[in-house]
Amino acid sequence: MMLFRVFGFLSLFFQTHVYSQTTLAPKKFLTVPLGNVKPAGWLMDQLVVQTNGLAGHLHEFYDYASQTDWTGGTSYYSNLEEAGSYWFNAMVPNGVLVNNSAINAKTSQFLSYVLSHQDNTGWLGPEVGTTKPRLLWGRYPFLFGAIQMTEVDTTLTNQVVTAMHKFVAVANTMLKAGEGVDAWAATRWEDFVIALQWLYDFHPNGNEALLIDTMQRLKWTGVPWEKVFSQHYFPTTAVENTPNPFDPLTWHGVNMAEGLKALPSTYRFTHNQSDLDTASKGWDMLFQYHGRPSGIFAADEYLAGLEAVRGTELCLVVETMFSGSYLYQVIGDPKFADRVERITYNALPATLTGDMWSRQYLQQQNQIGAKNMNPNPFPNDGAYSNVFGLEPNYPCCTVNHPQGWPKFISNAFLTTPDQKSLVHLYLGPFMTSVTLASNNKVTATVETIYPFSDTLTTTITATQTFTYFVRIPSWVVGGTISINGATTRALTPSNGLQSVSASAGTTKFVLNLPADIKTESRPHGSIAVQRGPLHYAFDIPRSQKVLKRNAQQSLAVDLEFDATAAWQYAIDPATLKFNNVPPASGKLPSPIFDSGKSPLTISVTACPISWATAGDTFAAAPPPNPACTGAQKAITLAPYGTTKLRIGEFPTFRST
Ligand SMILES: *[C@@H]1O[C@H](CO)[C@@H](O)[C@H](O)[C@H]1NC(C)=O
Ligand SMILES: *[C@@H]1O[C@H](CO)[C@@H](O)[C@H](O)[C@H]1NC(C)=O
Repeated sequence: MMLFRVFGFLSLFFQTHVYSQTTLAPKKFLTVPLGNVKPAGWLMDQLVVQTNGLAGHLHEFYDYASQTDWTGGTSYYSNLEEAGSYWFNAMVPNGVLVNNSAINAKTSQFLSYVLSHQDNTGWLGPEVGTTKPRLLWGRYPFLFGAIQMTEVDTTLTNQVVTAMHKFVAVANTMLKAGEGVDAWAATRWEDFVIALQWLYDFHPNGNEALLIDTMQRLKWTGVPWEKVFSQHYFPTTAVENTPNPFDPLTWHGVNMAEGLKALPSTYRFTHNQSDLDTASKGWDMLFQYHGRPSGIFAADEYLAGLEAVRGTELCLVVETMFSGSYLYQVIGDPKFADRVERITYNALPATLTGDMWSRQYLQQQNQIGAKNMNPNPFPNDGAYSNVFGLEPNYPCCTVNHPQGWPKFISNAFLTTPDQKSLVHLYLGPFMTSVTLASNNKVTATVETIYPFSDTLTTTITATQTFTYFVRIPSWVVGGTISINGATTRALTPSNGLQSVSASAGTTKFVLNLPADIKTESRPHGSIAVQRGPLHYAFDIPRSQKVLKRNAQQSLAVDLEFDATAAWQYAIDPATLKFNNVPPASGKLPSPIFDSGKSPLTISVTACPISWATAGDTFAAAPPPNPACTGAQKAITLAPYGTTKLRIGEFPTFRST
C-alpha cells in the first residue's frame, strides 16, 4: 500500500519534470521500501542468528546502544557522533525484517528522542546547548536510519522530512561558513548527499535549489574522490610507506568503502559521465591491487595490498556491500552485484563466529590463529585486532556490522525506473511483495539454499502481465531455465539480467546455475579456489579459549582460536573436485556459517610442506614451489565464510 503511494507520487513527478542540469539524473534501478523484501529459508535463519547474537542484544547492555539520552555525551564515539548513528542505521532494518518488537521499540525511541531534541537552528545531536564544535558526519547514518523508518511507517514521513529540511538549512549555513567539516566529514560527504537525494526524489517541498546547492558544497568541501580513484593517483601497493597526495584518510579502508558511493552520487547532480567512468575504474583498481579471493579488499586502517596476512576491517566489509548496491542502482553494471554477493557470502560471515556473538576487527585470508598477536602484521592496528570478541581494537564495528545482512536483503530486489518490472538482484531465498506501475500487485517467492545449491525455484503472482528480471551471475556456465514445467532451455541474459514473461496469475520457473571450479592467481605463485559465489579455503581445526567475558552480558565473549592441526600444505590444482551432499531434510543446519556445516565442499590432493610462521601468530608468505616433506593426502576445502581459521591462498605442487 505504501509502495503504491510512493509510486503514485513518483509517476506524477516523472510526468511533470524534465531533467536538466539543475535536476538530478535518474538511477538505473530503484529500491523498494524496507519491509517489502523479506528473507526466507536459511537467509531468515541467518538474520535470526544475528538478532539472537550480539547485534540484537546491544541495546540491552552495550553503552553506545543502550542509553536513553541519545543526544547526550561528548565522547567521540557516543551517540550521534558515531556509535548511536551506526547502531540505529543497522538495527532499523534488522528489527523490521525479523519483526522484533523490542528492537523496533528501541529504534522508535531513538528516532523520537533525536527529533524531539532538534534545536531551533535545526541542529541534531550532542552539541545541542553546548559550546562543543558541531561536526556533520555523525548524523549521516542517523539520516539513513530515519529514511528507512519512513519506508515502513508512513505516518513518520512528515516529521522526518520536516526535521531533515531544517537540518539541511543549518548544514548549508555551516558549509558556507566553513564549519562542520572535519577529516571524517570530508571523506564521508557522499552519505549526506545520498540522504539529500532521497529528499529531492521524494519530498523536495520546494527546496530543490537548496538541496542541490548543499550537495555541491559537500563535494567541494570534501576530498576529491575523482582524483583519489583515478589511475594517476591510485596506490598499487600497501600504502604504509607511500605519501598520500591528499588527506591521509582518503586511503583509510572504511572511508574508501563509503567513498565508492561518492562519484555515482556526484553524477546525479553533475550529469558528468566521467564521474561514472572513474567510479567504475576505481572499483576495479581497488580490487586489482588490494582485493581478496573472499570478494573484499584489504585495509588494516589503510590500504594493505595483496599479502594474505594483511587485514580487512569488518566495517569496510559492510560499507562496501552497501556501496556496491548503490553503484549497481546508479550504473547498472552487473559486476557490482556479482561482487556484493561474493562479499556477503564469504567475507562477511568469515569474520564473525557462527552464532554471531563475537566479531573480529580484522580478518585475514591466511589466518592461522586469532589471538593477541605478538608480533602482528598490521602496521596501524593493535595486537588484539583479529580476536573474535565484543569490541576488539575499536567499538565501531560492533555497532556498524549489523547493517550487513539487513541491507543486503533490502537491496536484493529493485524495480526498473518505469516501475513496470521487478528485478531479483541478489540470489538467495526471499519473499517479496510490491505494487508495480498500473497497480500491478506482484509477489515473488524464491525457494533455494543458494549459495549452497545451484538451483532456485521462483513463484511469481501478479494481477497483470509484466516482465520479471533475475540476475545471472557472470560465473554461471551452462545455466538453464524451465518456465511452468516446460523443458529447460539455455539462459539468455542481457547485461546480466534474464527476463521472464510473467502472466497475470501464477508463473513458476526453475533456474539451474552451475559453475566451474576456478583458480585465482595470488602473490608468490599461490592460488585461491573459487566455484560460483563461494570461495573455498582449508578450515584449520581449532581450539578455543575465552579471553574475556562481558560483565553485563555473559554471552558476549572474546575468544582466542589456535590451530590444533597442521595447515602447512601445498595443493595440486589439477585434482580439485567439487562435492555436493545436499541436506536430507532440504534444510541447511543453523547457524550455517561455521565449521563442517556446508553441504558443498571441494576436495584436493595436498602434501605437507615447510611453511614458516612469523612469531607464533601469523603465516609467512606462501613459499613458492615448495618441496613436499611427507606423503600426499586428500584434504577438504570448505566455503571461506564457514571457516574462522583458514588457509585461503596455497602454494601449489604437482601430484603423482
Ligand atoms: C509483527 O509482530 C507483531 C507483534 O509483535 C504483530 O502484531 C504483527 O502482526 C507482526 N507483523 C508482521 C508483518 O508479521
Ligand atoms: C567532468 O569531470 C571531469 C573530471 O572530474 C572534468 O575534468 C570535466 O571538466 C567535467 N566535465 C564537465 C562538463 O564539467
